[in-house]
This record gives sequence, structure tokens and C-alpha cells, in this order.
Amino acid sequence: QDTLSLPNVARMRRLQFAPGAPHPGALLGLTIRHESRYYGALWVAYDRPRNFSEEEIRFLTTLSGEAALAATSARLYATAEVGRQRLESVLASTPEPVLVIDENARLLLLNPAAVQVPGLILSAIEGRPIQEVVGPKDLVELLTVPLTERISSREINLGNGKIYYASVSLVVAEGRSVGRVCTMRDITHFKELEQLKSDFVATVSHDLRSPLTLMRGYATMLQMVGDLNDQQKGYVRKIVSGVENMTRLVNNLLDLGRIEAGIGLQIERVVVNEIASDVINSLQLQAVQKDIHLSQELVGTNKNLVVDADRALIQQAMYNLVENAIKYTAVGGQVKVRLENRHATVLVEIHDTGIGIAPLDLPHLFEKFYRSGRREAYQQRGTGLGLAIVKSIAERHGGRVWVDSQLGKGSVFSLEVPCEQFQKPDGNKG
Ligand SMILES: Nc1ncnc2c1ncn2[C@@H]1O[C@H](COP(=O)(O)OP(=O)(O)OP(=O)(O)O)[C@@H](O)[C@H]1O
Ligand SMILES: [Mg+2]
Repeated sequence: QDTLSLPNVARMRRLQFAPGAPHPGALLGLTIRHESRYYGALWVAYDRPRNFSEEEIRFLTTLSGEAALAATSARLYATAEVGRQRLESVLASTPEPVLVIDENARLLLLNPAAVQVPGLILSAIEGRPIQEVVGPKDLVELLTVPLTERISSREINLGNGKIYYASVSLVVAEGRSVGRVCTMRDITHFKELEQLKSDFVATVSHDLRSPLTLMRGYATMLQMVGDLNDQQKGYVRKIVSGVENMTRLVNNLLDLGRIEAGIGLQIERVVVNEIASDVINSLQLQAVQKDIHLSQELVGTNKNLVVDADRALIQQAMYNLVENAIKYTAVGGQVKVRLENRHATVLVEIHDTGIGIAPLDLPHLFEKFYRSGRREAYQQRGTGLGLAIVKSIAERHGGRVWVDSQLGKGSVFSLEVPCEQFQKPDGNKG
């Protein structure tokens, strides 16, 4: 029952009032209720007994209904406020910078960690365009360019020795994008370690090269200073071959270190089909020795294919790929270098009719020191660095490398290099 009407209170003997308090003549009580939740009661008292008209009751019921609605809103607001405060304290205690912008690229919120990063925030005023809020241009770009993937990330160099890794993703509410959230991670330490590693590799491989040259020199000279018997000749061959293996490893390490560190990258206009010809010429002898037909094909054009790149590195990448193709193809096979201009890139494909690659090996092929455990592959000498170098070179140029292969039938390695380099050669590409 939502309404209690007592037209004559004096007749209700069981009703007690506090001593000294005025005694009402009539009372009307109404519940303050919204759906199944009770907030309280509304009491209306009259000095004298009275019969409540239907109209009066209706009016007071409406009033209590309004009160219930107000109480409900207050309660919802309090719940929302608790939620908001909770979220705010989570953000506030997150040690990593977080910032949120709306769909017009204006600042919505920012956590204290973001404000504390020197050189990151220019002004932390809500509603300001992001260009006025954050300092680094790279970050502004990351926050404003159209997102092609769900999350897009980039390294942000703050210029004060600190490097952050920023990831931006869309904030989606009810199926549509309402802004973007950006989280940042301090990767300065990792970068320093990476640098240390590169320095180490460079120094060590350089210091290893000189004694190796010495050893190879003296080993080959042994047979010049006096006759050797067959057994001695055999030993010398083993020494020379071991030294050559090691030299290759050291050279590869040195290259990889240099490429990864991005030292001395010289970007110029290079003609890819000319480089391909050079590579084919320099490997022709190896191909002839295995009776492999080595050829080049320019697809869909007879013009030169030009890219902005480091000539020596592109040459090295192609060399490694063609060398592999010859190495892992049986006598009498075919290796073809196919060049094509595709969109704003040059695509180089190296087709071979070789031993192919097992599905198990495919995901690891471009890792450092990875060599297939299959007998046909392992018979060939190698360090397992050739493809890691190709990958590094491709990435340095904003390109990529991948492989399609059929076991026992052959492989196609594809190297894609963008025609133009937008970033500076020493830019911090991820
Ligand atoms: N064209 C190919 N056909 C079949 N297998 C290949 C081919 N190219 C590479 N592989 C496989 O991938 C592995 C890694 O190649 P990668 O060039 O990195 O090293 P590698 O040739 O063994 O040594 P190196 O560092 O001297 O080049 C090879 O050991 C081989 O198993
Ligand atoms: Mg190789």
C-alpha cells in the first residue's frame, strides 16, 4: 500500500506522539518509491480532521513521485561519480603516461604521469587542440593521422635522451569512434642496451678480423716455403676452411651490427635492375659450377626501376638472396631474379627450383643464426645470418621481405623496397 490516509487522528488511539509535539488532526502518508526501490515516506499533516479528496491525494502522489525521481537521479549520479573517481585514481596511480583525445583531436584527459615527463606536455588544458598540448611532432602525427590498424605505435624521441614507445588506439563507444587513447612506455633503457649490444658487436668483430686475416695468410703461405706431404696439405686445407667460415661469420656480424645501428646509411637514387645485374654477374661463376641457369626478368616495363636507398645494402640483400637460391638448389636447376614496379615500391623476387623450405622452418628463417636442420640444407656451409641481414636491410628502408615455398619444389623470396624514403636516413625507424 502506497498511501495511508488518517482523516481523524484523534480516533486512532494507538498512534503516539512525542510529548510537547503538536498533535495533528489528520495525516496523509505516501511512499517515496521508484520502481521497487523505496527512498522514504512523505507525510502531510493538518491541524484539524479532514476528509482527503481524490484530487488532493492525486496531487500529493505526483509530488512523492517527483521526489522519488529526484532521489533516483541523485543515487545514479553518486554511483557514476564513484565510478569516475575510481577510474581517475586508477589513471592517477598508473606510472605510465596516458592521454585521451576526442574525435576532433582535442585533449579530454591526461594523467599525472604524463605531466611529469619532461618535454612531453606543453599545456595540460582540457579541450585544447592536441598540437598545443603535446610537444613532440612525432606524437602529434601519431595521434592525428588516420589509423589503418587497431593499434598504431611508434618510438618517440623526446630529445632529452629519453625515448618512449607510444601506442594509440581508437576509443569506441556504441559502435563508433569517439576519440583515441595513447599510452606511453619508457624504453630508454632498452635502447641503451641495444646500443651497447651494437657497440659490442662492432668492436668484437673488428678485433676478431685482424687475427683471422693473419692466420689465413700464414696458412696459405705454408706450402710456399717448403714441400708439404699430402697429410699436411689436408690439415692446411682444414685450417683455411675453418678460418674462412669464421671470417664469414665475423663479417656477417659486423654487417648486421652496422645495419641495425643504422650507422653510415647513405641514401641515394639507385637503379635496382642495374644492381640485380651486378649481383648476377658476381654469382654467375657459382651458378655455372652447379650448372644452374641464372637469369633476370624485368616485368611490364623496359625502364629503369629506381628507389631511394643505400646502394651497398640493397646489393648485399640481393646478393644474400641469390646466393641462397643457388646454394639451396640442386645441380641443373634454375634461379630467376624478377623485378617489378608495384604501386610506390619496387618488388624483387628471387625464384628458385631448389630444395624448398619446411613449414616448420618458415616462421624462423629470418632470425639470427637460424639454419634449417634438414640434411639437404645443413650440408651447405653457412652462418644463418644471411636472411637476418636481408630483413634488417629491408626494414632500414621501410620495406619488407618474405618467402613462399614448396618443399622439394622451390622457393620465392620477395624483397619490397619503397621508391621514396620519407624519413631521414638516420631516422629512428622501429
Ligand atoms: N632459397 C632457399 N631455399 C631453401 N632454403 C633456404 C633458402 N634460403 C634460405 N634457406 C634456409 O634458410 C636458412 C637461413 O638462411 P641464411 O641465408 O640466413 O643462412 P645461411 O645461408 O645458412 O648462412 P649465411 O649466413 O652464410 O647466408 C638456411 O640455412 C636454409 O636452411
Ligand atoms: Mg645464406
